[in-house]
Amino acid sequence: MNEDAAARSRGHLETRPLAGVRVVVTRARAQAADMVRRLENLGAEAVPVPTIEIVPPEDPGPLDAACARIGTFDWVVLTSANAVTRFVRRLADTAGGVRGLRGVRLCAVGAATAEALAGHGLRADLVPDEYRSEGVLRALREAGPLTGLRVLLPRGNLARGLLPAELRRAGAAVTAVTAYRTAPADLDGPDVRRMLREARVDVVAFTSGSGVRNFARAIGAEAAGLLRRVEVACIGPVTAAAARGLGVATTIMPAESTVPALVQAIADRLGGRPARQERSPMGTTDAGARDAAAHARGNAAGPLHRPRRLRRTAAIRGLVRETRLSADMLVYPLFVCEGAGVRREVPSMPGVFQLSVDEAVDEAAAARADGVRAVLLFGLPARKDARGAAASDPSAPVQTAVRALRGRLDDVAVITDVCLCEYTSHGHCGLLDGETILNDATVDRLVETAVSHAEAGAHVVAPSDMMDGRVGAIRAGLDAGGFHDAAILSYAAKYCSAFYGPFRDAADSAPAFGDRRTHQMDPANADEALRETALDLEEGADIVMVKPALPCLDVIHRVKTRFQRPTAAYQVSGEYAMAKAAARNGWLDERRVMLETLGAIHRAGADILVTYYARAAARALAERA
Ligand code: PBG
Repeated sequence: MNEDAAARSRGHLETRPLAGVRVVVTRARAQAADMVRRLENLGAEAVPVPTIEIVPPEDPGPLDAACARIGTFDWVVLTSANAVTRFVRRLADTAGGVRGLRGVRLCAVGAATAEALAGHGLRADLVPDEYRSEGVLRALREAGPLTGLRVLLPRGNLARGLLPAELRRAGAAVTAVTAYRTAPADLDGPDVRRMLREARVDVVAFTSGSGVRNFARAIGAEAAGLLRRVEVACIGPVTAAAARGLGVATTIMPAESTVPALVQAIADRLGGRPARQERSPMGTTDAGARDAAAHARGNAAGPLHRPRRLRRTAAIRGLVRETRLSADMLVYPLFVCEGAGVRREVPSMPGVFQLSVDEAVDEAAAARADGVRAVLLFGLPARKDARGAAASDPSAPVQTAVRALRGRLDDVAVITDVCLCEYTSHGHCGLLDGETILNDATVDRLVETAVSHAEAGAHVVAPSDMMDGRVGAIRAGLDAGGFHDAAILSYAAKYCSAFYGPFRDAADSAPAFGDRRTHQMDPANADEALRETALDLEEGADIVMVKPALPCLDVIHRVKTRFQRPTAAYQVSGEYAMAKAAARNGWLDERRVMLETLGAIHRAGADILVTYYARAAARALAERA
């Protein structure tokens, strides 16, 4: 064969990798067509064997009753295309028709179900990325609180009980109604049993657990034995579990439970591989075509999917990059102390300084020149006392620095940390009664502090104390003082973290006794972070923050997906010190670690990155651009 002819033939075979492969498709009659077409497009011979049939429920009453009061539900959760068809058909027959769905949200378990909705002109509001009940549950939970939610679940008579049970456990009011029944179909058409016995089948594909069971019932006692001689393709884990129940191992299963993915998985496994013909000399396939296909797919072409194609050059990687850092999202923390001309490096945070007001303003200007447009100020007062009086003193370092910054750098956002720990002689974040931190008395002091910052001109105040109710109290205090425009960035989910160690050197704020466990969050908790964030938002927070950052990527992700509000994350002193120390030892490439960690925090969901690396990161980003 000359090269042209070889290439042509290869091209042809690449699009028909399943040439000569026979696949038994066990799907309900109405659903088999699409899968058959897809298999045939890849060259396979598809044998539809409907083992189940979709029929109306024995009693359509409950579905009709639910349709009649459709407006009383918050969500309709649809777990199959069949459910969509039956539900929409009944709904169309009610007085209000499909218009009754206005205000009711639709959740489709996967792409096919969403497509079925689209076929009726309806849009799924939610399509979880995990195509089973567990995925639905997680997605609904992320969309909002489940308590009191009214959910309609029209589904098949054989559907699993997991979803309604879990939804109910989470406090939702679930109406589960039977929208259709799956009934075993007679094995008519080609005699599958005989084809299996004579080893004339390469693959039996299953797309539901009931399909597996009905197929086995129809074939009879020898079903498991016959299935063990072929490739068994199952659409997903639930179907595979049904096969396992028969004692049959699944040999093909796609990562994603969809028909296209199932067909692709069959092609990936059998594309070009001599299958049946080796097991049976009676095979009726075109062995020549199969050999050529083997050559094309297995040897010459290799895998169909080559993700490395999009990683070949910097330009291509740039095109497909999903997230990008930008200097706009950086916030630079500054430690402001008394005096003039002071620039004292913090031993555990190389490159970070305690700065007097004049130096702090210079540092902010230099950061601005690097591209950083926001600073977060911490104060180191001259005097500390039990009540942290200097925190709200208009002439203290933070307030003075705010005025100076607003005078000189008007395009820099000035954010102030609001907490008492830098100001109290005992180093605790609040007022004490013995060794107990008083909540409400502390909140009063925090309000005074925040108002003094706003008075000096702070754009944003950032309470980091984790007292209960402080966001609401600060909002009220600011409004009462006429500072409606001062925003609140709340440290909403602030964990009691060992990573703040170096900060306490920088701010001289280590507690004299005890720790911060009675107000900062237990690092073992994440649901609680969502409750804390919800409270702060209710109380009027404009931006919410998770802290520390890298140990809390899951929390950042959940906070962002649940609330969809401006979300910040604080790459704290210990995260910085860790990278610095390793870099100083030559153990890590600091620049790459910096960009990778900040990138990860952003990818997790943070819009705003507070980091001691702000200047270095802005410079690195400018260089890269
Ligand atoms: C003040 C505050 C702390 C940090 C920010 N605000 C210290 C603490 O809670 O102990 C930590 C910042 C860092 O570690 O970089 N409450």
